[in-house]
Amino acid sequence: MSVSENRERPTEDGLIGIALEAMKTAYAPYSGFLVGAALETEDGKIYTGRNIENASYGATVCAERTAFFRAVGEGERNFRRIAVVGGKGGEITSFSWPCGICRQVMREFCGDDFEILTFDGNSVASAKLKDLLPSPFSKDILEP
Ligand code: THU
Repeated sequence: MSVSENRERPTEDGLIGIALEAMKTAYAPYSGFLVGAALETEDGKIYTGRNIENASYGATVCAERTAFFRAVGEGERNFRRIAVVGGKGGEITSFSWPCGICRQVMREFCGDDFEILTFDGNSVASAKLKDLLPSPFSKDILEP
């Protein structure tokens, strides 16, 4: 995987900060693991997301997907990057790379170069979608 870290500008240009703010309204009473996301469209709009858990655990939705579903529901189709942060009780101590289901949802709307940023409390790491989800199952295969 090709991941780069940036210790010089730890919160990038605000996208990580917006994800940290979004994390504060996560609903995670079962795991206690709060996650926030900030999704940027190609034209610079930002949609936030946070994880929303459920007593029926499988009904939980991750922060990345709540951001994508809000944005797609508003008609957005073109995305540049997403910032994701998470930690137990909201304390950020490690990078929060998106889970496999979220990577698959990203692939539905984003190309190889869509960028994923995450933060461990000190530095920002980034990776491209093609490196987080190689050999994807994507919509092309369903075309006649
Ligand atoms: N979670 C996310 O929000 N995003 C991910 O990519 C991985 C996991 C959430 C789901 C659940 O509420 C909690 O983190 C613990 O798995």
